Amino acid sequence: MDNFSFCTPTQVHFGRGSLDHLYDEVTAVGKKVLLVYGGNSIKRSGLYDKVKDILSDCEIYEQGGVEPNPRVTSVRAGAQLCKEHGIDVVLAVGGGSVLDCAKIICAAAYYDGDAWDLVLDGTKIKKALPLITVLTLAATGSEFDSAAVITNLDTDEKLGVLNPHLYPRVSLLDPELTFSVPANQTAAGSADIMSHIFEQYFASETNMVADGMCETVLRTVIASCPRAIANPSDYEARSQLMWASSLACNGFCSLGNGVRPWPCHAMEHELSAYYDITHGVGLAILTPRLMRFSLNEKTVERYCHYGKAVFDLPEESDRMAMAQKAIAKTEEFFKSIGLPDNLTVLGIDDKHIDDMAKHAFEHNGAFHLCMVPMTLEDIKRVYCECL
Ligand code: NZQ
Ligand code: ZN
Repeated sequence: MDNFSFCTPTQVHFGRGSLDHLYDEVTAVGKKVLLVYGGNSIKRSGLYDKVKDILSDCEIYEQGGVEPNPRVTSVRAGAQLCKEHGIDVVLAVGGGSVLDCAKIICAAAYYDGDAWDLVLDGTKIKKALPLITVLTLAATGSEFDSAAVITNLDTDEKLGVLNPHLYPRVSLLDPELTFSVPANQTAAGSADIMSHIFEQYFASETNMVADGMCETVLRTVIASCPRAIANPSDYEARSQLMWASSLACNGFCSLGNGVRPWPCHAMEHELSAYYDITHGVGLAILTPRLMRFSLNEKTVERYCHYGKAVFDLPEESDRMAMAQKAIAKTEEFFKSIGLPDNLTVLGIDDKHIDDMAKHAFEHNGAFHLCMVPMTLEDIKRVYCECL
């Protein structure tokens, strides 16, 4: 097992009624609040009114309209409000896009230059306003990690940044707030949770503790997502997805594993940058192709182990056949929850493949460290196989 250092400083309040903690958590930091939210989902569900009601004696400023694949323009506007009004605390209410946007708003509030500088170079983040999150969609794990992913439409870039100052101070996780998530977003979020695990599980060096946690999260999502789609108000299923989402992305499930280069995310972020597609949809299309790319004589046992542990596949003497079945099972699961299985149906063709591959290769910088090393040509080939 590799050495590691680990700390997640986020206070979590999980479960029904966790909004009861909102007032005390916010006012423990201050009463000048920037409320960050997305489109209309929180207004439709009544959550917006509820939050305003709870914080009725606070001075609330608003940055609404944060886009899925959040734009740096929203970050700039939010940071400006923080500077103008001397905001004490940022409250993000929404999905991963809202949380990510709020994270960089918190950092940009203390930065004199352009917020995009902080996305290009996370080491420039030296300080951030405290962030409190109320999560409404189980997917990214942003509520429990130190990452944010921001899009710049001027440069066709969607980039992730990691910095310890980006951990939320507090996250309120009430599964009931995800009852209104539609089936397509529930499925995309589930694919995202699974992909976070795959990125850490299919690594060149792994360990038993990490494997057990990763496999449990995968099995949990595979069992719970169809239940949540069939019955959106299934509290147990929504709870399992919500906690799985938080655990899957903050590194906890792969402590001690070897290097984890996250190739699928690097490739998907390019698809979202160029075509503004839903993150989890892109991941679900890429995943089986990347798995097949990295299946060879050296990795075959890893895929057999995965098939047995996650899908209860029986052992087979033909190891390649068993590994192929494990990948096919993954692909079938994504189809069964209604996710598209190719890019063509999303209207994407080969026009930008060269550019996307080049950007992914350059931005990620670690494709050569994948379980099966990937060259620029390999990345292009995998994109082509997704068409
Ligand atoms: O904008 P509103 O009206 O709120 O609607 C949203 C949006 O249209 C809707 N939604 C959210 N909660 C809802 C709801 N609709 C009904 N009921 C609810 N309770 O869902 C749509 C998608 O929301 P979004 O926040 O974009 O989805 P998600 O949570 O999947 O976030 C995706 C973003 O996070 C990034 C992705 O790249 C993408 O930009 N990621 C962030 C990560 C991180 N910070 O660690 C890691 C991930 O790998 C990922 O890259
Ligand atoms: Zn993701």
